[in-house]
Parts: sequence; C-alpha cells; structure tokens
Amino acid sequence: MVASARAFVLRHGRLRPVPGLGGIRLHLADDALQVWHAAQVETGDPDAPIPYWAFAWAGGLALCRYLAEHPEAVAGRRVLDLASGSGLCAIAALEAGASSATAVDIDAHAAAAIGLNARANGRRLTVLRRDILDEDPPDVDVILAGDCWYEAALAGRVTSWLRRARDAGLDVLVGDPGRAYLPTKELVELAVYDVRTTTELDDLDRKEGRVFALARAGG
Ligand SMILES: C[S@@+](CC[C@H](N)C(=O)[O-])C[C@H]1O[C@@H](n2cnc3c(N)ncnc32)[C@H](O)[C@@H]1O
Repeated sequence: MVASARAFVLRHGRLRPVPGLGGIRLHLADDALQVWHAAQVETGDPDAPIPYWAFAWAGGLALCRYLAEHPEAVAGRRVLDLASGSGLCAIAALEAGASSATAVDIDAHAAAAIGLNARANGRRLTVLRRDILDEDPPDVDVILAGDCWYEAALAGRVTSWLRRARDAGLDVLVGDPGRAYLPTKELVELAVYDVRTTTELDDLDRKEGRVFALARAGG
C-alpha cells in the first residue's frame, strides 16, 4: 500500500509552488472530485477519504504565513503538525527553524504525499499515519493544527486533545478560515492573512485565514 500510495500521489499531483508561500512546493491536484473518484477505484473503497492531501487549505496557509513572519514560534523546537494533509505546516515549521517535525494524518495517501513533499523541499520529517487523538499529548514543544474544524465529530475530538496538550504545557497554534466548529471562545487571535486556497472544494476566492493560540486554562 505504501508504494502504491506514493505512485498514486505522483500520478495525481503535480509539483508546484504554494500560492503566497514563496519557496514551498507541493504535489497538488486541480480537480478534487476526479482524484477522489480515482482513489475510490484504486482502493475499491466507495468511502475512500476526500483527497485533502492534494490541496493547501486556508487554515494551513495562514499558519504557514504566521510561521514565516514569526519563526521564533517554532525555531529550535520540536513540532507536531496534526491533520497534516500535504505536510504543508510541518514543512513550513522546518523552514522556520524547527528542530524536528512530525506530521500526523490518518490517510494513507496523505502519509505518502507528506513524505514526497518533504523530500521535494529538501526536508526530513517523521510521518505518523494513525489517529493519535485518544493518546496522551506527544513529547514535542509545539502543536500546529491547520484547518481541522470543518466537521463536527473531528472538531470536537481535536479540540479536546489540544486542550490536553495545552494543559500538559505544550504551545498550540491553530490556523482556520472561519469553519463552523472552531471553538472561538478558547482562542487568542494572533494574526489574520488573506489567503487563497488551491481547492475548488472551498471557494477559490481569497479568504481571511486566522491564526490563534489556544488560551491557557483560566487565561
Ligand atoms: C482540511 S485537511 C487540512 C490539511 C492541512 N493541515 C492544511 O491546512 O492544508 C484535514 C486533514 O485532517 C486529516 N484527518 C482527519 N481526521 C484525522 C485524525 N483523526 N487524525 C489525524 N488527521 C486527521 C485528513 O485526512 C486531512 O488530511
């Protein structure tokens, strides 16, 4: 599956620069529905996940812009990029000077894309392909969470897990374009960026992508 997932990403993604992010290049697709259908056929699974990995999402784009402007948020620190998709935020963290990056996603094609994208940008990172949301907070310094609040069940689990990570002393940075399930009351806004996603599943017009820190309990 690993080799075939890699071949799938190479067949359906074209390496190109990410809008607004200068140097970072990703294997990106143009037509989400076409790639989704191909994934259903290839895996024989009508419930194959949407190919999130094939696009740079607005939340992740905002987070990456923030890291480029504020490298001190991650420089010299161990970073985990939750729901990494293409690996974009993990790669941006390494570009900003993170000492290590771990990219986590449950999707086999995402795991393959993250590895290919890291290599295309001359970066080394660790890829974890599993659901860690019921596990203890990881042994890192900073967690990045880009565009995870688009679906109620996932949003609830992500928010609870991030709270636990924060309570364990980790810094949590969130990037989001105003998704329905974002827990805004618990977030401290750090920056707003005009971003343009690469997927027609979102509207392709410019969006406001916001970057937040998860506030300390009682703070
Ligand atoms: C909208 S994409 C965001 C990707 C990337 N962070 C960005 O901003 O471009 C959401 C990602 O969450 C992943 N995902 C969904 N459930 C997950 C879980 N329980 N653990 C880790 N990743 C998950 C999906 O596979 C998908 O790649």
